[in-house]
Amino acid sequence: MKDLLNILVEKYRPLTLNGRVANYIPELSKMNPASLAIVVSDVASNTFSAGDYSMRFTLQSASKPFALALALMDNGADVVFDRIGMEPTGDSFNSLMKLETFTSLKPVNPLVNAGAIATTSLINGGSPEEKLDRLVALIRQLAPGCNIGFNRDVYLSEKQTGDRNRAIAYFLRDIKAISGAVEENLDLYFRQCSIEVDCITLATMAKTIAMDCDDANHPIPRQYRRIIRTFMFTCGMYNASGEFAINVGFPAKSGVSGAILGVVPKRYGLGVFGPALDHKGNSVAGVAMLAELSRELDLYLL
Ligand code: DON
Repeated sequence: MKDLLNILVEKYRPLTLNGRVANYIPELSKMNPASLAIVVSDVASNTFSAGDYSMRFTLQSASKPFALALALMDNGADVVFDRIGMEPTGDSFNSLMKLETFTSLKPVNPLVNAGAIATTSLINGGSPEEKLDRLVALIRQLAPGCNIGFNRDVYLSEKQTGDRNRAIAYFLRDIKAISGAVEENLDLYFRQCSIEVDCITLATMAKTIAMDCDDANHPIPRQYRRIIRTFMFTCGMYNASGEFAINVGFPAKSGVSGAILGVVPKRYGLGVFGPALDHKGNSVAGVAMLAELSRELDLYLL
């Protein structure tokens, strides 16, 4: 496995030249576009790493499945999906267009920004700090012993420049998809995006989501793990989710930092970092590495 991962990094690093680092959050533009790493963690807890696997990066949208896990555990599925839909979308990740045309007056799913902001609003806690602590505690349980940090510079950078998310959040309150203090809700959303990990941590988190056991000690109940994996499969790579499902074939969630968290149920958790992004906001070399890994190991679910 380790040899295969080394070959993938070597083969696809030149592809990073075809991508661009996200710059709409100014702090993210400082990342090195040539960075590339992949880590595989199997359910027996063997870990295989290649490339720049000790580099640290923010979760960005890869935090969304975990906010959803907490919202489900805090409220149950009926309450969550009364507020947020379950459908994939063909729109870009920060689109406002659909919001005004919803007949149901709720965001399409929990992984686009509108749905993620509504999901975050369903996390219990007395303050944004307490809610963030609960989310970080959940992530620590999923990746015990790993170093889960917080990147304050990225958080402040997004908070200062996140007007599109601000527009989405105020609109959501207007249509009653969220309630309460909009700025506090946004603050928590910006903070969850700035949780900082490395690829080993990302793969370990993914491996714990890949487990299908009905163990009462698992941090996320089995029925909610199923929901999260399904959303990752149908909506996790934004408007490239269909193509990714065909070419790679298992659930994944990307972030604009270049993170991809991949889940092969009952087998593997995958952590990828490659900040050079394609035009849909997914790691260009990361997606290529995962497609080849899937071909080599036959990881297609369908
Ligand atoms: O909402 C935002 O703009 C970011 N903090 C997270 C977006 C993101 O990672 C989208 N990913 N592909």
